[in-house]
Amino acid sequence: MTRSRITGIGFHVPPRVVRNADLEKMMDTSDAWIIERTGIRERHYADPGVGSSALGLEAARRAIADAGRESGDIDFIVYATTTPDYMFPGNGVLLQHELGLGHIGALDVRNACSGFLYALSVADAFVRIGRYRCVLVVGAEVQSTGLDLTTRGRDMAVLFGDGAGAAVVEPCQAPQGILSWALHAEGALAKELWCEAPSSMVPGRVTPEMLEAGRHLPTMNGRQVYKNATTRFPEVIEEVLRDAGHTLEEVALIVPHQANQRIGDAVAARLQVPPEKVFQNIQNYGNTTAASIPIALTEARDAGLVKGGDLIVLAAFGAGFAWAGCAMRW
Ligand code: UT7
Repeated sequence: MTRSRITGIGFHVPPRVVRNADLEKMMDTSDAWIIERTGIRERHYADPGVGSSALGLEAARRAIADAGRESGDIDFIVYATTTPDYMFPGNGVLLQHELGLGHIGALDVRNACSGFLYALSVADAFVRIGRYRCVLVVGAEVQSTGLDLTTRGRDMAVLFGDGAGAAVVEPCQAPQGILSWALHAEGALAKELWCEAPSSMVPGRVTPEMLEAGRHLPTMNGRQVYKNATTRFPEVIEEVLRDAGHTLEEVALIVPHQANQRIGDAVAARLQVPPEKVFQNIQNYGNTTAASIPIALTEARDAGLVKGGDLIVLAAFGAGFAWAGCAMRW
């Protein structure tokens, strides 16, 4: 049976590093609070004028080179971002143009932290039905421009960072490849982690009052997110393993969306797997939303933690709420 697999991965973060000590100068927070509650030590911020599409372009180039391919080999793009350069069109078409890819199709996915896995599932389905043979999947975000870097926005501001990751997905034969995936959502909790404006319900999309109140910036109920994340991550990891006919003991590495080190630790504890089986690099990047899984996967692979033949599980949880998992044989 034809399967799909990731044949190349890569990531890119903007060079500007923002340490917890830098945030201490802007808001009432502390390095100790941030490390204790989140594990984050530093994150990267893009400079003004650099959007998520620019970060995604660099990550895409690296993934394509890693796959041993050239841009011209790509026959479809699935692009996950919550922070596109423009309200429309999406980043997918911008990347298609930058890579000089003529008229190939480009699909945008807006499932926030789960965006990369939603996008990967689409790539997998297209490859398995034989429709496309070399799909580029990108997750890219510039969150920093949407953060309230004052004490008012400190709960969000300390968590997020900018970055991009990408993967090339191509056909393969068993035993390698993507074995199973699961996609879930609970829209009843949409407003627990959301960004209200710009809104099509509002003439002019945003009013001065909304701007004054900061309603154009993301907000969240941190405790609600934390509670749901620590339940949904283990659930979906077990689901995709069950569907693939495998067990946790066989898994070489779990690569979760990097939301909070405490969430990663809690997931390891709930699943009763050793903490080193749950890869975490949030310390250096913060939460980069749709980019965090491909960034983490690239670093894990480059560190030798993901080798040919390994069974690995990717999992994500975030705004929507939306959550997803994917089991694959590397
Ligand atoms: O991909 C999904 C994205 N979101 C997440 O993953 C977030 C999940 N949630 C979390 O990670 C945690 O809920 C947070 C890290 C956001 C917050 O941790 P917490 O242990 O739930 O703290 P809390 O919200 O209950 O706040 C505790 C205290 C509060 O002060 P009082 O009311 O006890 O006086 C907050 O005002 O900490 C205060 N606080 C801060 N203090 C210093 C909130 N943010 C900060 C901050 N620095 N940045």
